[in-house]
Amino acid sequence: MYNYALHKQINKVLASNNIDAGGADIDFYTRLIANAAAIQALYYTIYAGHTAADELFDEMIATIVVAHNQRSKALKQKDAEKQQKDYWFLSNKIAGMSLYVDRFCGSLKHMPAKLGYLKNTGINLLHLMPVFESPAGESDGGYAVSNYRKVDERFGTIEDLLVLQEHMQAEDMYLVVDIVLNHTSHKHEWAEKAKQGDKKYQDFYYMYSDRTIPDSFERTMPEIFPESAPGSFTWSAACNKWVMTVFHNYQWDLNYTNPAVFVAMLDNILFYANIGVDILRIDAPAFIWKALGTTCQNLPKAHTILQLIRQCVQAAAPGMALLGEAIVAPKDILPYFGTGKAAAQECDVAYNATQMALQWDMLATGDTRVMYAAQYLLLQKPYGATWITYTRCHDDIGLGYDDSMIAEAGYSPYEHRKFLKEYYSGQNGSPARGALFSVNPKSQDARISGSLASLCGLEKALGDNDDVAIKTAIKKILLMQAHSFFLGGIPMLFYGDEAGYTNNYSYLQDATKSYDNRWMHRPIIDWQKNGNTKVPGTVEYAIFTGTQQLLALRKRLDAIADLKNITWLHTHNKCVAGFIRYNNKSQIFCLFNFSSSETFVAVSVLSYGGKTYNTLYDNFSGKYITESTGYFAIEAYGFYIIEGH
Ligand code: GLC
Repeated sequence: MYNYALHKQINKVLASNNIDAGGADIDFYTRLIANAAAIQALYYTIYAGHTAADELFDEMIATIVVAHNQRSKALKQKDAEKQQKDYWFLSNKIAGMSLYVDRFCGSLKHMPAKLGYLKNTGINLLHLMPVFESPAGESDGGYAVSNYRKVDERFGTIEDLLVLQEHMQAEDMYLVVDIVLNHTSHKHEWAEKAKQGDKKYQDFYYMYSDRTIPDSFERTMPEIFPESAPGSFTWSAACNKWVMTVFHNYQWDLNYTNPAVFVAMLDNILFYANIGVDILRIDAPAFIWKALGTTCQNLPKAHTILQLIRQCVQAAAPGMALLGEAIVAPKDILPYFGTGKAAAQECDVAYNATQMALQWDMLATGDTRVMYAAQYLLLQKPYGATWITYTRCHDDIGLGYDDSMIAEAGYSPYEHRKFLKEYYSGQNGSPARGALFSVNPKSQDARISGSLASLCGLEKALGDNDDVAIKTAIKKILLMQAHSFFLGGIPMLFYGDEAGYTNNYSYLQDATKSYDNRWMHRPIIDWQKNGNTKVPGTVEYAIFTGTQQLLALRKRLDAIADLKNITWLHTHNKCVAGFIRYNNKSQIFCLFNFSSSETFVAVSVLSYGGKTYNTLYDNFSGKYITESTGYFAIEAYGFYIIEGH
């Protein structure tokens, strides 16, 4: 849509920043002009009527232009290469790992030396858990940032981060970092100024002199950490005001109704882009817009803000994809990819938290029907966007899928969730060793903490010295990983899971962590133990080599790239989840037995589209599958990645 006034306005900003529109900057100029009308429309959808709206619009455009000017040649070159690939992040050649730098290898300085270990595992994308400055003891694992530009001394310096990025770029690896968009630490410079009474910065947050508005908000806002941080407001004696703190009381919610907040955070986002971040993980985007009388989650304007961020990023740093960390109900997750005309124009990537939790549902029940009931929604992901698929991460497992999905499988939602919570917290003879997280005493809602290995029974099996149970736990671990690696999306491993780390209870001795049992599944890596990944016969070896083999296989099978090419199979066996991944050359049948006994599937299940095969080859075991009387067997917690010939 051509808009004379807008283009005049933009050209003025470009001229004052020495942009060579017809020469060196032609690609940038084209992108900015192509996005300008959308940027304007999205911006004014949010900020029309704000007294500073027009002035800050110019500042926002200038922020984009300056970021482009500051972007290095190397990154501009990488941008061009990624754009030629068309949705580079859909590739089956990408697999990631998320880790805490200090708990993994001490500091950023030691990270380059560990890239070999990651590459050997099959990892070429690295998600660094937050490394920017955050007050010790009030950091929420780094998600309470006091300085978006300064690497915390615990991890090193910004120079160390840049050196790591250079190493990664040389090794063709991708970097993911977080932008904590929803809140800052109460020690951030803006919060400090607000505490000193600076009105400009008080307007960066939600602050009220009395309880009237906080009380109204709290009537409809769910509590995020009901045990450790009840309520959504905290009294700040320093500024004599109630401050909105949806998460912990030291995390102050930013007020995005103020365009100055948006522009300041966009500047931080583009700062990360220019460090060389390939995928920016937007922390907790579901929470960024608040409105009285609502849950203050997933509101339409939160989507408008994300779409605006995307348009701005695309202009300044087109190689950086956006990952939305929206851990929300299945029906609420799809809109983070953009809807209607904005389909695939919001977050490029989102966590498939529903499927993650449903894997745990299947593992506990041996029944795949609740998972199947969720697929009609999840399949609505638009072409051009992708998932993060995972079994565990640094956070808890929420059982937030819909009651209707549980009911469709014939279970009572309340009883079913009760069973899962008891199962994973090790009650009633369960082999799992996890714990309930954030139990809401009013509703009895709870989430689950625990490492992949402990939840799969390895901790108990090792404690009991029970070889059979150890083998079963290893099978469960690989089943869970295989299911998430082949589903479509970027697999994101959590560090330690590749070597079978069980829960670490040392957090209980640390007063800054003991209130948050998510620390039980955030291991401290013992490199001697990881050395066992090379020693046949050890648990670490079995898990590591299995994981490594699965990742290598995924990279070899191009049909696994996420091109909206998955079809769920009717396996006619409730214990077995099955899907086909395909491209114009091949079909890969993936079958997973979630039950504790051997089970059978009819060969006819694989004659999808009328095609039949003479031989069925399992890519994982390297064996041909034999059938008798039209059925083949899958062992307890076994799986197949089959190609037919
Ligand atoms: C995200 C993070 C979580 C953190 C929260 C608040 O959900 O993954 O660890 O507690 O945001 O920043």
